[in-house]
Amino acid sequence: MTAVGIDALEIWTGKLKLDLAETFAPAKDDSPEKYTKGLGLEASSFPDTYEDIVTMGANAAKRLMDRKGLEPDDIGRIDVATESAFDNSKPVSTYIAGCLEDVYDGDFHHANKGERKFACVAGTQSIDDAYNWIKAGRNRGRAALVIATDTALYARGDPGEATQGAGAVAMLVTENPNLVELSTEQGYGSADETDFLKPNQQFPSVDGKRSVQVYLARMREALEDFESVAGRTHPDDFEYIPFHTPFPGMVRKAALLGFRHMTRDTDVEDGLADEIGRQPRRDEYEDWDAYEDAIRDYMDALKETETYDAWYAEAIDPTLTLSRRVGNWYTGSVHVARASALKTAAEMGRALSGERLLVGSYGSGAQAEIHSETVADGWREEIDALNIDEQLARRYDLSFEEYGRVHDAHNHEKERELEEFTVPSGEFVFTGWGRMNERKYEYVD
Ligand code: CAA
Repeated sequence: MTAVGIDALEIWTGKLKLDLAETFAPAKDDSPEKYTKGLGLEASSFPDTYEDIVTMGANAAKRLMDRKGLEPDDIGRIDVATESAFDNSKPVSTYIAGCLEDVYDGDFHHANKGERKFACVAGTQSIDDAYNWIKAGRNRGRAALVIATDTALYARGDPGEATQGAGAVAMLVTENPNLVELSTEQGYGSADETDFLKPNQQFPSVDGKRSVQVYLARMREALEDFESVAGRTHPDDFEYIPFHTPFPGMVRKAALLGFRHMTRDTDVEDGLADEIGRQPRRDEYEDWDAYEDAIRDYMDALKETETYDAWYAEAIDPTLTLSRRVGNWYTGSVHVARASALKTAAEMGRALSGERLLVGSYGSGAQAEIHSETVADGWREEIDALNIDEQLARRYDLSFEEYGRVHDAHNHEKERELEEFTVPSGEFVFTGWGRMNERKYEYVD
């Protein structure tokens, strides 16, 4: 069977930065540790006033196409995943294709374009669509371009404000991929939930505390479903486990639950029994509350063990290095987590070809999806080509007052002043609105 998966990716961050410990915490009269230790975040990436989901997506896609030497004819499908769309009819992929057509000779007239919506899980769903399209033999030798792009902004004063972010991940899905091969094994956990939603409004309505519980419940369901097709999972099976990362503290909670689940009835549980006892079993407790208390105590003890600490440091922490510096990118977030892990492995000189990843995606509303991937032989070259460190270092560091103005500039209900903090160069920029209220873009050399 021909391998299908992600051949290459490019990451484009918003050009501005909001430092959470230095700038946000003092303005909110909060301890910086709430952000750096509690949420696990150092900074958010923000879009400059000439940036939006189209410019960031098109810029990531152009870098990808240039680096891979691709022309529009090589692409048979452009899928954009976003939860920051500004049009209920015309998909963002048409805008992005329009931008790219301005700088390439050919066009995308024979490429299928669409927009995927299911909160943050839509990026992974778009990869699935591309995978299925290629596996079905409908791609005529062409690649799929999948772009996850979001400006993850919350209303001022919302508890989610500290987790904001903006950026895009463009991914090329092909046969015989260089980066990761996708497997057919998948699990879902999906239910009608009202944890986070945007009912025809720009900024989300969020039940933050509940959203954390819904994330964990759906992720657990997805893992059980995954195991029903792939067999029991064990922590040693996977080099890295990239999760959807709204903030690293969320992943800390998911990882602990995942580790408890994966180690039940295994050598790891046996090995820890003398130190912290065995995991509580439901049939050992008469009432549910007592059982839950026992689980909480076990988890508290588990997270203090060297065994757990070592696994977390190896399999989870490397997935968080970028998200700590950029915040939540919604649809792009789990793909940033994967890139983060592979980038850390490259920096450590690790040999990863043939090793497996377990990828946990999540979208509010709510659905979790878990699948496994195998790292392909060309992964190192692809990861070494990323310039995300330079992009992050170049970001303009906003004062709190400037942050307020940028937030207003992106607020659809406020008058937009086109004050720029950085100077665009070699990229697509937003220039204003056309006669039908469409957005206009141009390429700046
Ligand atoms: N030192 C160390 N830690 C501290 C601290 C300090 N001085 N002060 C607080 N903390 C810790 C808290 O104990 C807490 O950690 P635990 O959860 O492990 O106890 C953490 O910092 C955060 O503190 P709070 O819970 O008080 O923070 P909050 O209530 O202001 O905000 C939130 C938390 C509700 C999750 C908020 O960030 C939010 O609403 N976020 C948006 C929704 C979201 O991201 N949900 C995640 C799941 S949904 C999803 O994943 C989809 C998506 O992308 C949105």
